[in-house]
Amino acid sequence: MKKVEAIIRPSKLKAVQRGLKEAEIPCITVIPVKGTGLQKSYSERYRGTEQSMILQSRVMIMCVISDSNLEKCINVIKENATENQVGDGKIFIYHVEDAIRLSNGTTGVDAII
Ligand SMILES: Nc1ncnc2c1ncn2[C@@H]1O[C@H](COP(=O)(O)OP(=O)(O)OP(=O)(O)O)[C@@H](O)[C@H]1O
Ligand SMILES: [Mg+2]
Repeated sequence: MKKVEAIIRPSKLKAVQRGLKEAEIPCITVIPVKGTGLQKSYSERYRGTEQSMILQSRVMIMCVISDSNLEKCINVIKENATENQVGDGKIFIYHVEDAIRLSNGTTGVDAII
């Protein structure tokens, strides 16, 4: 299993959510976040160092998926969250040890499908 954390523009959330659902990846957690990336182009284009300290509002989509769904999940996020501009966001991928569905005790991949 893998955990995917995608930090994206809030305006892209609905499209990504719809895309994931259509790709049969319906289980997601969404967290509003603030952060900053490298911001090189951003600070150069605007007003220098002060600007680079500003935290941008973004949304983090977290989902735990089977290994076989990873490529599909990444593609859906890339297709729906990208404007091909700085600040589009990032995707982080983690290995997941185990999962437990509390309602019936199923574990592993059975708990996430
Ligand atoms: N290495 C990182 N660790 C944790 N969070 C990050 C990291 N890089 C980016 N983020 C988060 O993602 C958001 C969007 O980052 P962003 O896309 O601006 O990255 P970037 O490295 O500046 O790339 P770009 O040049 O495309 O803007 C940031 O506001 C921050 O919340
Ligand atoms: Mg940036």
